[in-house]
Amino acid sequence: MVYAAILAGGCGSRMQSDLPKQYLLINKKPIFIYSVEAFAAHPGVDSILLAVNDRYYDYAKKLLDKYCPKVSLTLINGGEDRLATLKNILRHLRLKNAVAEDTILITHDAVRPFLDSRIITENIAAAERYGACDTVVPATDTIVASDDGEFINACPPRDTIFHGQTPQTFQAQKLFILTESLTETESKTVTDACSIFTLRGQPVKLVRGRPENIKITYPQDMIFAEKYAQTLKKP
Ligand code: CTP
Repeated sequence: MVYAAILAGGCGSRMQSDLPKQYLLINKKPIFIYSVEAFAAHPGVDSILLAVNDRYYDYAKKLLDKYCPKVSLTLINGGEDRLATLKNILRHLRLKNAVAEDTILITHDAVRPFLDSRIITENIAAAERYGACDTVVPATDTIVASDDGEFINACPPRDTIFHGQTPQTFQAQKLFILTESLTETESKTVTDACSIFTLRGQPVKLVRGRPENIKITYPQDMIFAEKYAQTLKKP
């Protein structure tokens, strides 16, 4: 069984909009709906989960009824931060006895609307084979590391540096066990689910993303998103 979980529990503080950014419209459609449609259209995905802040539960439901009434999907409460949202998703699956050895969980940011089916297919295959995978694109800028923000400690060679996107996809049972094993201190330092695997010495396969699979973070990202969305064909 392959589950796709769309993480839409954030408040989008950097977007500085009254409405959390996942509900803003691009080309007349709420941003999170693009991901719902991508997973609904993919033959390898069996079930879709959408995690939202409980204040937006009814609002999200209304939008789902309006934009994709035929898609059946389970709404889940988001958590305090992204990791807590992910834990809620995993605990929901556990409670439903839905986590078997071969269960795959695709996790995706609701604010990355330009996901394509090739990326979903490759995520499922890589997670089945290796246990975990991350979608990445090669870094185009030189990345410098600095401990104090004042002087450079290191300039890692650019061909070893990638930008992480989503989806990140996992064997759900492994992810559940590793996530629940985190200490309080570890939970504070872990930024995403793939780093839980690397923290525990587990392999994470890289899947090639694409530059268009941007995360909408700042108001200026909406300009690219609006233009790009207008070039897409209707599903
Ligand atoms: N997310 C979530 N639950 C949270 C926080 C974030 O599901 N408690 C989701 C967001 O909705 C988003 C994704 O994680 O789809 C990526 O996070 P980010 O871009 O950081 O979103 P926000 O936390 O909403 O934005 P900001 O950091 O600007 O407040």
